[in-house]
Amino acid sequence: MQRILTPSKVCALASIRELIRENVSRIKPYSPGKVSEEVKREIGIENVVKLASNENPLPPSPAALQAMSEALSDVRMYPDPVCFELTRDLARHLGVGEESVIVGRGSDEVIHMLGLAFLQPGDQVIMADPPFALYPYTGTIMDCELIRVPLKHYRHDLPAMAAAVTDKTRLIFVANPHNPTGTAVSAAEADAFMDGLPEDVIVAWDEAYYEYATMPQYPNTLEYIAQGRKVLVLRTFSKIYSLAGLRIGYGIGSPEMIDALKLVREPFNVSSIAQAAARASLSDASQVERSRRVNEEGKGFLYDQFQKLGLEYVPTQANFIFVDTGMDSVELFDMLMRRGVTVRTGEIWGVPTFIRVTVGTREENEQFIRALKECLAAKANG
Ligand SMILES: Cc1ncc(COP(=O)(O)O)c(C=O)c1O
Repeated sequence: MQRILTPSKVCALASIRELIRENVSRIKPYSPGKVSEEVKREIGIENVVKLASNENPLPPSPAALQAMSEALSDVRMYPDPVCFELTRDLARHLGVGEESVIVGRGSDEVIHMLGLAFLQPGDQVIMADPPFALYPYTGTIMDCELIRVPLKHYRHDLPAMAAAVTDKTRLIFVANPHNPTGTAVSAAEADAFMDGLPEDVIVAWDEAYYEYATMPQYPNTLEYIAQGRKVLVLRTFSKIYSLAGLRIGYGIGSPEMIDALKLVREPFNVSSIAQAAARASLSDASQVERSRRVNEEGKGFLYDQFQKLGLEYVPTQANFIFVDTGMDSVELFDMLMRRGVTVRTGEIWGVPTFIRVTVGTREENEQFIRALKECLAAKANG
């Protein structure tokens, strides 16, 4: 039976915003990259190349696809709540104990668990400015004070981040490689930073893109855990393993750190299909090699094209490039979208002439460059 709302009930509904926790009302809604289906609907273009969310342009490993289809027959059952087999495989793969690993619904969920387990209202959370979106989101949900430390030459300014620590600081996020710039800090920089921190500050080393990093001095942050430091390393199956749609990532930390995260983990947080696909992916090293190779080739091609176009870009350690097009990025986004390509606009990070473009396949990169050239020429010709 349909219920009719009386005017007083309408009033009560209208004031629901007043009931939202004050800190939650401060959250800025996450702005995801436009999905291809949206662009197809809005513009009526069939062949949309999405280079907006740092997804791997290659399909998942055939072994993962096979494991997913086999796992389908068991979906009437809840998944393994502790991801027992995947945790064991990950521990072997990483050379750490099983009690040092926790699996989440994407590394996003592990970031969220970190907030739930360790952040008290009023604590300070330090991050780069601009940060990866989940850090301010988690800090704000937990009613913490966000301390944003500007990047220096597009890189984390670790000395300034260490200098920002006070006795209220509980957590520091370092995305390495960083999103949106793709820069990474070296082992020497990371060591000096870690050595200067007080004992009771937790550092989350977010390594969502670490498999793509090619710099020889890339830090081995698992060593910090072995040394007993308060560190959580975050990694994911979304990027190099091409499983973003399944939502599966993981954290590595001391057994005490992982035990704390387990207290706030939702029961059955990771689907059985995701667990099966992740296990199969780990056993297929060729997936990682293939993805790295395509990324390196794509980076080379795009760098070359940007140079020919006279555009400045930030050399990347990840699968995306931050490039200054000299044009308003919102206008450029629209023009590119009409040519069947989506990217991320720099205006959301306070750099309105930059875009962040994911490295695609050769064909996708070529389509992007063709479209970019047309847009820049159209703009130059007024
Ligand atoms: C720096 C960084 N950390 C974490 C994530 C989240 O990845 P996941 O898909 O594992 O939640 C992303 C995703 O884009 C990212 O860029």
